[in-house]
Amino acid sequence: MIQKFKTNQEVIENGDKYLYGNHVRMPISMERGEGAYVFDKDGKKYLDFIGGIAVNGLGHCHPAIKKCLQERAETILHCSNYFYNEPAVQTAKLIVENSCFDKVLFANSGAEANEGQIKLARKYAKDHGHPERYVVITMKNSFHGRTLATCTATGQYGVHRYFEPLPTGFRYAEFNNLESVKMLMDEYVCAILTEPVQGEGGVRPASKEFLEGLRKICDENDILLMFDEVQVGSGRTGKLFAHQNYGVEPDTCSMAKALGSGVPIAAVCAKGEATKVLVPGTHGSTFAGGPLACALAATTLDVMLNEGVIDNAAKMGEYFREQMHAVIEKNHPKAVKEIRGLGMINGIELNQPSGQPVVDLCYKDSNVLINNTAGNVLRFVPPLIVGKEEIDIVIKAVDEAMTKLGW
Ligand SMILES: Cc1ncc(COP(=O)(O)O)c(C=O)c1O
Repeated sequence: MIQKFKTNQEVIENGDKYLYGNHVRMPISMERGEGAYVFDKDGKKYLDFIGGIAVNGLGHCHPAIKKCLQERAETILHCSNYFYNEPAVQTAKLIVENSCFDKVLFANSGAEANEGQIKLARKYAKDHGHPERYVVITMKNSFHGRTLATCTATGQYGVHRYFEPLPTGFRYAEFNNLESVKMLMDEYVCAILTEPVQGEGGVRPASKEFLEGLRKICDENDILLMFDEVQVGSGRTGKLFAHQNYGVEPDTCSMAKALGSGVPIAAVCAKGEATKVLVPGTHGSTFAGGPLACALAATTLDVMLNEGVIDNAAKMGEYFREQMHAVIEKNHPKAVKEIRGLGMINGIELNQPSGQPVVDLCYKDSNVLINNTAGNVLRFVPPLIVGKEEIDIVIKAVDEAMTKLGW
């Protein structure tokens, strides 16, 4: 029998008993969502500026997503990659038509898509007459996932610790420092992998010169430029892909998070020569590119591209930064080191060791959900559909929390 729990507290108590303790959870059991709001098991309403960590791009229970799910339940959910399915082709076509890419390879999570990129880069080198090349240069403070290869690709000791021996083949350069990338270049390097905006690393946008410089290094050495847009792709930055803000085209790019509106799906997008590398027998997945996840991805992309969602992310992101700047400047100038972001991924770097006290006060006093990343950076990754009204509520909550803390 499936037990029904009655209260928020009951779910939490049973959760602490039965769920593996690898995540730190807030004491809220999410029951349902509506637009930019979520409700806990007791019916308490919260404004959601975490958005499933940048997953709920269209907000919760978007009508088009509901309709798509209902249709899928009555057609087909899974059929394996022995066959074609229409939603996979539709999703790939939408991505290709709205980007620099020529082909799309599906995966199930951000980490898995990045594994795909790493494998692709190593084989690309072999295919191009360089069997000695296997090293991928990544950036310090990056985040690329939790599998062994992607946690090693991640330039953070805290993510590597306890899992040694780690796979070989990764070197770490300074983000936004072209010289430090050049110093790591030698005959063994097959690719450079970076996020155009570091998310988990503290919401740090790359400079245009940095990405342009990486493109040049890759072109000069016939190695791949690979972007990780797991967090900042899918409309988050006010363009479908974050790199479209920079005018720099990678050879491959991963996406995940908001692509499926909450159902696991990820993709490696590839252009030119990079589309020819992963031939049958080299890479694949049972679930990837299945009709359920792809139907949701096609619907998500269609709504994002054709109903002004991505444009809204660009406009509201600017509004967020302007308003937040004004309030912080006026009331808490000493507490904040920097406010930064691109579109609807924004961060406040604090002059404090941790942002957690602000996160806690925001949800306890104002029913506003935000999170803290990279130690002391408040991160705001709401649904891309939010308007000025929701942004004003969040700014007020942060302002009041900082005032209460005496910051
Ligand atoms: C930039 C980036 N890459 C990869 C990942 C890993 O994605 P997933 O958790 O879907 O494996 C994340 C997750 O936060 C991410 O932000």
